[in-house]
Amino acid sequence: MSTIAVVPGSFDPVTLGHLDVIRRAAAIFDEVHVLVVHNPNKHAMLPISERMHLLQKAIDEDEGIPANITVASWSMGLLVDYCTEVGAKVLVKGLRSQIDVAYETPMVLMNRSLAGVETVFLLPEPAHSHVSSSLVRQVAALGGDVSDYVPRVVAKYLDSTRPA
Ligand code: PNS
Repeated sequence: MSTIAVVPGSFDPVTLGHLDVIRRAAAIFDEVHVLVVHNPNKHAMLPISERMHLLQKAIDEDEGIPANITVASWSMGLLVDYCTEVGAKVLVKGLRSQIDVAYETPMVLMNRSLAGVETVFLLPEPAHSHVSSSLVRQVAALGGDVSDYVPRVVAKYLDSTRPA
């Protein structure tokens, strides 16, 4: 039986750190679902459809990522409900620092307790450890160059939406 893993996130927008984790997950698991999750506690920059579109293009353009990836979205109910629906027993999350460990630990235990879904942490390249979607949004909004932090397609998109 094939092992399905879900890589959830807001991906607002997808960064090179996210892609690194997706690439590593795809090398370990038979199938990987990259899930754009609506987070009601966050004010999003991009609509979910645009986040999915940019993710799919970034994955398609990355030669290091195998073809066992599905991009999907989830805006109703628990993350583990999606896992149950697709038969995934594992969540994959990227860790950048001890702050991420502290933030993620209660969610790991809750997801295990709710549905028996385990979480695997993967560390991206240290070069990406200071990169987050929120900082990318901030740098882009203030006119900075984000091309070292996001896939080419995202850099182009952010450039094209910048006020003239
Ligand atoms: O990219 P982000 O914003 O750090 O991703 C956070 C996300 C979507 C992974 C996190 O908010 C999450 O796991 N949401 C699921 C909501 C849920 O099911 N909560 C109850 C159990 S923890």
